[in-house]
Amino acid sequence: MALWGGRFEGGSSAMFRRVNDSLPFDQQLASQDIRGSIVWSRAIARAGVLTAEEQQRLEQALEAMLVKAEAGQLDFAASQEEDIHSFVEAALTEELGDLARKLHTGRSRNDQVATDFRLWVKEHAQALAQDLQQLRKALVQSAQRHQTVIMPGYTHLQRAQPVRYPHWCLAYVEMIKRDISRVQDLLKRMDQCPLGSGALAGTVYEVDRVQIAKDLGFTEPCRNSLDAVSDRDYVLELLFVASSSMMHLSRLAEDMIFFNSGEAGFLRLGDGVTSGSSLMPQKKNPDALELMRGKCGRVFGSLQALLVTMKGLPLAYNKDMQEDKEGAFDAVNQWHICLMIACEVIDSVELNSERCAQAAREGYANATELADYLVAKGIPFRTAHEIAGQVVLSALAKSKAIEQLSLAELQEFSELIQEDVYPVLQLEYLVNKRSILGGTGEKPVLDALRQELEAIAAGQDR
Ligand code: ARG
Repeated sequence: MALWGGRFEGGSSAMFRRVNDSLPFDQQLASQDIRGSIVWSRAIARAGVLTAEEQQRLEQALEAMLVKAEAGQLDFAASQEEDIHSFVEAALTEELGDLARKLHTGRSRNDQVATDFRLWVKEHAQALAQDLQQLRKALVQSAQRHQTVIMPGYTHLQRAQPVRYPHWCLAYVEMIKRDISRVQDLLKRMDQCPLGSGALAGTVYEVDRVQIAKDLGFTEPCRNSLDAVSDRDYVLELLFVASSSMMHLSRLAEDMIFFNSGEAGFLRLGDGVTSGSSLMPQKKNPDALELMRGKCGRVFGSLQALLVTMKGLPLAYNKDMQEDKEGAFDAVNQWHICLMIACEVIDSVELNSERCAQAAREGYANATELADYLVAKGIPFRTAHEIAGQVVLSALAKSKAIEQLSLAELQEFSELIQEDVYPVLQLEYLVNKRSILGGTGEKPVLDALRQELEAIAAGQDR
C-alpha cells in the first residue's frame, strides 16, 4: 500500500520500484521511526486531532512494535512497502484499522525521515564516541605495559631519533581525542528536532514543537522548516569524523604493518588478528591492519558521495536525498568494526624490546649528541658537526655503532674525546634529554601517561 495512491490510476513499474523503494535499507531506521511516531501521536492528541483514548491505543500498538523492532523481529522481507514510514503505518493499520490512518495528520515523510535520521546519527555518534574511547584506553594500556621500550622514530621513513613506545602510543591517543571532540561538536550542532516542519512549510496543526523536541531528546526544534527537511549537514559531519578517524586508523595500521615486518621486527601480532597464506606456509599476514587501511576508501567515498548528492539541490526536499543513507550506514558500520579490531590488534601486540633498542641504536641517532659533547669541550658547533659526520662515516665502514668504536678509534677524529663520551652516547641518555613538555624523555612521557590514566578513570573524553 503506497501512502500516495489517490491521484494515481496506474501502478508503479517494477523497475520504478527497484529504483525508488528504500525499505531494503531504511529498515535500519525502524526504531527511530516508531519512536518519532509515538511522540507525534502525543503532539497531535494535544492539538486536538486525537482523543486521549485514541492516542493511548496508538501508543500501545507502537510500543509493542518498538519492542519487536529492537528484537529484530519485524518481517521486512515479506513486506511490499516502499519505505520504513509506509511499513510502520501499514503494520499499524493492520492492527488498528482506521485509527492508524489518523497518525499521519499534519506530518510528512519529509520531516519524518529528517527526524528519524537525526535520531539515528545521534545514537550512532554517541556509540562511536564510546568506541573511540575504548581504543584510546587500549593504546594507553599498551603504553603502560611497555613503558620502558625505546624504538626508532622516523621522518621520511628514515630512522631519525629514538622515541619511547609509549610516546608513539600517546601520539595516536591525541588524534583519537580530537576525533572524540569532533563527535561531541557535531552532537551539539545537530541537537535540533525537525518534526513539525511538515513537507516543507510547517504544519497547520497546533503542535507544540518545543515539547516534541524534548520528548525526542533534542534540546530545541529546528528554526526553519525549509532547512529542517532539507538539511543533511549532520550526516556529512558524521561522515567527516568517520573519515578523519579512519585516516588516523590507517596511519596507525601502516606504522604497525611496518613494525611487524621482517625488516623491522619490532613487534609480533596475535594469531587472532592475522591470517596465513594459502600457498606459503610460513606467512602470517597483518590482514586486520591492512583492512583498517583499505576500508578508508569506502568511508571517504561515502563522504564524497553525499557531498556530491547534496550539491546543487534546490530547497527543500528532493528524492536525491534518499541516497543519504546507505553510505552513512556502511561508513558507520565499517568505522565501528575498524575501531574494535584496532583494540584487539593493540591488545595482541608483543614487543621485541631488544630489537627495538638495537634498531634505535643502529640509526646513528647519537651523532648529534657527539657533536654537542664536542661543543661542550669548546669546539665550535659547525666543526663539531663535521667531526661527528666523519665518525659516522668511519663507523658505517666498520658496520659499527658510534658507541662500539674504541676510544682510540674515536680519538682519530678529535683528541678531546675521552672515556666520558660513552654515557653520552647511550640510548636512554639521548632519549631522556628530550624532557621538554611533549617530548619523548622519561618524565614528560610518564606524566602524559599518568594524565591519560587519570582522565580515563574519571570518564573524561579529553
Ligand atoms: N524514503 C524517503 C527518503 O529516504 C523518505 C522521504 C520521502 N518523501 C517524499 N516526499 N517522497 O528520503
